[in-house]
Amino acid sequence: MDWRIAERMRGLGVESAFIVLGKAKELEAKGMKVYHFEIGEPDFDTPGHIKEAAYRALADGFTHYTPSNGIQELREAIAEYESQRKGVDIKPENVVVTVGAKLAIFAAMMATLNPGDEVIVPSPAYPAYAVSATFAGAKVVKVKLSEEKRFSFGAEDIQEKTGEKTKMVVINTPSNPTGLIMSEQDLRSLAEIAAERRLIVVSDEIYDRIVFDGKKASSILEHCDSLDNVIYVNGFSKTFAMTGWRLGYAITAREVAEHIMKIQLNTVSCPTSFVQRAAIEALKGPQEPVEQMVREYQRRRDLVVEVLNRTPGVRCLKPEGAFYAFPNITELGLSSDKVADELLQKKGVALLPGTAFGEEGEGYLRISFATSIEDLREGLEKFREYAEEKLS
Ligand SMILES: Cc1ncc(COP(=O)(O)O)c(C=O)c1O
Repeated sequence: MDWRIAERMRGLGVESAFIVLGKAKELEAKGMKVYHFEIGEPDFDTPGHIKEAAYRALADGFTHYTPSNGIQELREAIAEYESQRKGVDIKPENVVVTVGAKLAIFAAMMATLNPGDEVIVPSPAYPAYAVSATFAGAKVVKVKLSEEKRFSFGAEDIQEKTGEKTKMVVINTPSNPTGLIMSEQDLRSLAEIAAERRLIVVSDEIYDRIVFDGKKASSILEHCDSLDNVIYVNGFSKTFAMTGWRLGYAITAREVAEHIMKIQLNTVSCPTSFVQRAAIEALKGPQEPVEQMVREYQRRRDLVVEVLNRTPGVRCLKPEGAFYAFPNITELGLSSDKVADELLQKKGVALLPGTAFGEEGEGYLRISFATSIEDLREGLEKFREYAEEKLS
């Protein structure tokens, strides 16, 4: 059978984290001890009070379809939570609850981009931005982030790349994979350029509560006058350790929210009913479990940065948020892919090459520290051994 697979599938990549996870599991099945630093998911269990709320919803028979943009109580809870945190006036009509933040990103792009539009995307970056923009027929214009400038994404870069066809800029702060946060100054200038050039800003702030050393990740919402040109994305996966529950949301102008909802309606119908009840509890219930998780990520961050910076041929900036370290390995003299592959095969250390986040990530590795401190200690020791072998 000649399936003549659709042309649009050419642009649809696959996330390397899931591929490396598959390879790592194969090695594990053969009896090898594997250190899992590849996948970006909290190792913590979802806090008990959130699970209880889901059990209650199930026991109450809350097991049917819901409105496509999510239940009213949850949209109200999100609007209140985000208005308070970001100091802007968000109404429930601005909120679309989605099946994961990933669907919010995809639907946001499908709803607003036409073939031929240009989208400015930082690189290295979370791969879903370029994939979704390409799938929508748009052209991705990358801005290479450099370590010398602390992987910042500033006004100059955006000005330089903005042309007649530019329709959107994507930002992600704190960033996956660099772990760094955008400065107030960069956000302010971006908001100004976006207003002046009539650009849509997609701002993925899914790690905004995972920040260290008492810092705060500023939001684009604090710098834009209204939701008129912003699509803000967040979700429950990272903050509340709820990756498998699949719940996220977009906040934007009402008109766009309706189109995002239509994409959801025509694909998955609605987010899972009882998960939405649990999400209300996540937002309104005790926040101590989140604070505890963040403290633990910070402890791990300190260990990871310390070990990496005394590994020969490796240097690493200190992540300010999220749960990723992005060490520079150029002095090892091998490609990121090669190092990542050898570390897995020879030492059982599963991590991602920087190129999983765009070719601009060459020379780097991404290490997720959303895993136990014992595994981090042992796995990074193996990495140190490997680096010593390579340089000897
Ligand atoms: C930057 C970023 N945005 C969005 C997502 C997707 O999150 P969700 O599980 O809500 O789809 C991830 C997951 O790794 C991420 O790193």
